[in-house]
Amino acid sequence: MNILEVKDLCKTYIVNKRQNNVLKNVNFTVDEGEMVAIMGPSGSGKSTLLYAVSGMDGITAGEVLFGGKNMAKMGEKELADLRLDEMGFIFQQMYMLKNLTVLDNIILPAVQSKKHTESRKEILLRGQDFMRKLGIIDIADNDINEVSGGQLQRACICRSMINNPKMIFADEPTGALNRTSSDEVMEELTKLNHEGTTIMLVTHDVKVAAKCTRVMYIVDGNIKGEYSLGKYENASQMRERERALNNWLLELGW
Ligand SMILES: Nc1ncnc2c1ncn2[C@@H]1O[C@H](COP(=O)(O)OP(=O)(O)OP(=O)(O)O)[C@@H](O)[C@H]1O
Ligand SMILES: [Mg+2]
Repeated sequence: MNILEVKDLCKTYIVNKRQNNVLKNVNFTVDEGEMVAIMGPSGSGKSTLLYAVSGMDGITAGEVLFGGKNMAKMGEKELADLRLDEMGFIFQQMYMLKNLTVLDNIILPAVQSKKHTESRKEILLRGQDFMRKLGIIDIADNDINEVSGGQLQRACICRSMINNPKMIFADEPTGALNRTSSDEVMEELTKLNHEGTTIMLVTHDVKVAAKCTRVMYIVDGNIKGEYSLGKYENASQMRERERALNNWLLELGW
């Protein structure tokens, strides 16, 4: 069953009276349980696409259906609840509130959601559990500006998972990380995916994309090609997956 269906999606920005058609009739679906990477040159519209299909930003034309529901037809409250309860977000700018601790930032979506019947104490325990799993429990009480980029990114993953979303959207989740932290973050994301969470992420990194089930390559606001890699099972497949993906990307002018 598909969780996301995108039909003839267009997104136009108007800057200084000049029209910039960033997304031009984009069509695709994402099935439940997939882990899709979006790749493409800088400025090709990857972040714009992620924002448009996750309801972060309005669209100019076309339709985006999440779980069969047209997001453009939802009221503001319904859309906000959908985003809070069923979607998780890991974004480039890593929006975290500066006057809260790391743990308080992580549990904020759960505190705001009406999906749970837990007490604050139970939510805190769950937040700590996620932090322990991602190896950052030591920084639970730190302020946001007292942690490293890699720790902050892992905190973002904890936050994106706190409401058990059906789907996680991530814009370059490993973009600011070194190889080791990047591998660790990807290990967590693939684990989540294996547990059933659908994931859509933007990346410039072939090693990151090679762990996904499918790669979409975007050029100038159009999907230029798609490559199916199947499920990533273990590290022994990596070399072959990377090689195959690299060859395909080179053919597309990567
Ligand atoms: N809020 C905005 N207002 C106006 N134009 C925008 C806005 N956001 C993006 N754009 C324009 O849309 C185009 C695509 O930008 P986008 O950020 O989606 O690219 P990208 O593929 O994510 O690039 P990168 O790999 O560098 O992150 C660019 O020409 C950009 O200038
Ligand atoms: Mg971007």
